[in-house]
Amino acid sequence: MAMERAFSDALGDWKRSCYCGAPRAQGVGRELILAGWVRTRRDHGGLIFVDLRDRSGITQVVFNPAFNASAHEKAKQLRSEDVIAVRGTLAKRPAETLNPQLATGEVELLGKEVKLLNASQVPPFNIEDETEANENTRLKYRYLDLRRPQSVAHLLLRYRMTKLIRDYLDGLGFIDVETPVLTKSTPEGARDYLVPSRIYHGKFYALPQSPQLFKQILMVGGLDRYFQIVKCFRDEDLRADRQPEFTQLDMEMSFVNREEVMDVVEGMMCVLFKELKSIELQKPFRRLTWQEAISRYGSDKPDTRFGLELSDFTEALRSCQAKVFSQAIETGGVVKGLCIPRGGELSRKDLDDLTPLAATFGAKGVAWAKLTEEGWQSPIAKFLSASEQKAVEKVSGAKIGDIILFLADTARIVHDALGNLRLHLGAKLALIPGDEYALVWVVDFPLMDFDPEEQRYVALHHPFTSPLDEDLPLLDSEPVKARSNAYDLALNGVEIGGGSIRIHQVDLQRKILGHLGIGPEEAESKFGFFLDALSFGAPPHGGIAFGIDRLAMLLSGAKSLRDVIAFPKSQRAVCMLTDAPSPVEPKQLRELGIRTTIVE
Ligand code: AMO
Ligand code: AMP
Repeated sequence: MAMERAFSDALGDWKRSCYCGAPRAQGVGRELILAGWVRTRRDHGGLIFVDLRDRSGITQVVFNPAFNASAHEKAKQLRSEDVIAVRGTLAKRPAETLNPQLATGEVELLGKEVKLLNASQVPPFNIEDETEANENTRLKYRYLDLRRPQSVAHLLLRYRMTKLIRDYLDGLGFIDVETPVLTKSTPEGARDYLVPSRIYHGKFYALPQSPQLFKQILMVGGLDRYFQIVKCFRDEDLRADRQPEFTQLDMEMSFVNREEVMDVVEGMMCVLFKELKSIELQKPFRRLTWQEAISRYGSDKPDTRFGLELSDFTEALRSCQAKVFSQAIETGGVVKGLCIPRGGELSRKDLDDLTPLAATFGAKGVAWAKLTEEGWQSPIAKFLSASEQKAVEKVSGAKIGDIILFLADTARIVHDALGNLRLHLGAKLALIPGDEYALVWVVDFPLMDFDPEEQRYVALHHPFTSPLDEDLPLLDSEPVKARSNAYDLALNGVEIGGGSIRIHQVDLQRKILGHLGIGPEEAESKFGFFLDALSFGAPPHGGIAFGIDRLAMLLSGAKSLRDVIAFPKSQRAVCMLTDAPSPVEPKQLRELGIRTTIVE
């Protein structure tokens, strides 16, 4: 039992000399006091080696009975993750034990005295970067997991990133203003987290999905340039790149057009990439209209690090004999596909596996054709005339050895499924350069989309996004065709930020809410305060918000958002460390005027 070991030693008058990652050859001969955690203890023929770890690195400590017998006796008792302090002399390592892998690998501390400051239980997993522990165990013992060098590196990068952002925006006159957490619903398309009120039974605060309305009201308040690094809460289905609470860099500016917002953002990205990755980005970043992004990449957040763009076969196959194609086209759909270079590398099974993958995006099937010296090898070859085959080859640029995929359906399903097949094949065929960064703006999103489930129009971004000036007339004729003054920034296929120029005239705002099925009464009860604000001299304004967690993940090369968040929720939205969400005391519920019945 760890607790039986003596750990009565307090630091006393010992003052730590430096971090464990700091000692270097120049310091040889100095007396040092180091403190940290025992990473490992190795006994070698009388000598005891302890790797002493803190957030900065590791120093090897040697206890030699000839050097100090009592320290050596104590060192024998040390176990992994004990917290200790050691006083000793820094020495050069013998030539054969130099460790070039370690920043401190030329030196070691000859331990003269050791204090066991706090004994540790045996940890449930090894605290190394290559740990085998499953993620939920790591999250339950997050404090142990955070001791891994990689965890420290991720949090450090995240800190440096937000510091660079703050300094950059400060330099441009932005000011950091806090907005409330207990507030009223701000719609961003997810469910709200609700907090019951004790004082007003039956009433609830909503945690903000974003500070959208407050930042706009700050503009009405004349703050002109605002930013905040702020927690947002969205109760939505979790995915690898989503957390129920996450952090945004939220920004808003007055008297600007979209180019000015984008320019501020590009400058910021340049600083981040230069300082954190030593990469000089070229401004302006690439821009794609939403239409082009969807049509060429099947995605509104295209990964432009590789080609494999979608080809449109609709015209070529309009009157072909293949019913799946011609019927889809007749009913207003499209036929599009991908031309896979070196498609021969794909086995028959690889091709067959594409169908269930496409099916998860609603596609009914995927057809393929292999181009060989002898012509098309394909189950659909007999349905396509020679000229149709030639037209398909021309559109897709296919050459002998390539495989062409075909998908026929509504444009939405075709783009979604092909966009995802493209990513799947890009990874499978190693077409994606791992060390590149592709930033691309997607602009001119549609303002609204028809939600077949709810049978109404929904805002593609949020209801406060302004339409493009030239599309204003469409609001009265074909609102679904109107494009918005919105912009998203995608990095390597991940949406890292999104924003827009806002509606600043109350009449237009009311009109758009109306299109979204929010009538005057509902508008008044939900957003009355905001509509009032717009009517008291709201300046033209616009802004953007970035997913700080996503950005930190991409810049640090972490595999998941959870790796760059100190205390993330699990994939099932649970805080494994504290076990939240959890039941509450009946008394608390009584105070809130709440009685619970679980409705399954
Ligand atoms: P949006 O909803 O696009 O815009 O959010 C902005 C950015 O926040 C990140 N993000 C998330 N990150 C982790 N987990 C989540 N659940 C999650 N949801 C969003 C994304 C996204 O690009 N108010 C607007 C911004 C504006 O118009 O200024 C907004 O919130 O990286
Ligand atoms: P079937 O007529 O269903 O036997 O399908 C013939 C071929 O066309 C198979 O390879 C199917 O995967 C493919 N296919 C079926 N539906 C579609 C579709 N909507 N788009 C593309 N290919 C399809």
